[in-house]
Amino acid sequence: MKQKIDQLLDESQRFQASTMDELEQFRVKMLGKKGELNDLFEAFKTVANEEKREIGQKLNILKTAIQDKIDEIKNALEITEDNSENTDLTRPVNDFVLGSRHPITLVRKEILEVFSRMGYVVSEGPEIEDDWHNFTALNFPPEHPARDMQDTFFVEKNGENDIALRTHTSSVQVRVMETQKPPIRAVFPGRVYRNEAISARAHCFFHQVEGLYIDKNVSFADLRETLLNFAKELFGEETKIRLRPSYFPFTEPSAEMDISCNLCGGKGCTFCKHSGWVEILGCGMIDPNVLKNCGIDSAVYSGFAFGLGIERITNLKFTVKDLRLFSENDLRFLEQFKSSGF
Ligand code: DAH
Repeated sequence: MKQKIDQLLDESQRFQASTMDELEQFRVKMLGKKGELNDLFEAFKTVANEEKREIGQKLNILKTAIQDKIDEIKNALEITEDNSENTDLTRPVNDFVLGSRHPITLVRKEILEVFSRMGYVVSEGPEIEDDWHNFTALNFPPEHPARDMQDTFFVEKNGENDIALRTHTSSVQVRVMETQKPPIRAVFPGRVYRNEAISARAHCFFHQVEGLYIDKNVSFADLRETLLNFAKELFGEETKIRLRPSYFPFTEPSAEMDISCNLCGGKGCTFCKHSGWVEILGCGMIDPNVLKNCGIDSAVYSGFAFGLGIERITNLKFTVKDLRLFSENDLRFLEQFKSSGF
């Protein structure tokens, strides 16, 4: 009898069925009124008392194994039968939701592409910077207000070489000048941080692209032509620029650049405050002190630099009026850029 039980256990474990009919035949053969199991339970009555315990256990194991096997195959068959009955092969496939590029990413890419076409390479630098790269090497005097706690997020303030979140991407200029020999033609995109109250017009972090060009005989005319070409590439052939004298510690002379308002074409609107012009960047000829600080001979080389805010350009390209939208992750805002992407 033990042998018979083992044999049936083995048989049921190896059993497979591909239709419900086959499964039903198996069920009847094993568990039906005249099935194997009933025969065994009949025979069990005559088993000697001392063997009853062992054989009883074996019989129960066999019964559960058969039942489990039947359930398992039944489930599998039901799933496949269900599918084949309900599948409508003419139905369109399920849509999968595609994300969209962030507007800052889109504009950043466009800016970098314009400069790549002019032969600029792209580099990046650290967001946590020391005082030397963010301020001192860039000719900021020790008492300059930008170093103040109001503007800078300090990570470590030790009075010598403080560590801070960089306040501009000009710090990457220094890193590149320290490690590369001219000619240098490069742009540095990145995130910068300032300790400002968050509002529609200001944020505690934003994005910049810094540009640097150093070679022999680089002049202010080269700077102007480069930036004019950039403005036209980004905002259209009819775009005009104007350079207004300004001050930055690391450039001399320094300027701020306006472009003709791309929303009203220069006629005057609320966006350009009826002036017809909007400011997009700061620029200038690199101060000889900065070249010297970075180990470049200012008697041989000269260069220009510029720094622009990506948010500002994005505002102009997509007429976004509130800076906070860029970092709130509101899908209603982000989804509007689906078609502008790459
Ligand atoms: N670093 C300046 C800022 O964050 C922008 C800037 C101005 C960068 C003039 C330059 C420059 O390279 O020449 O406001």
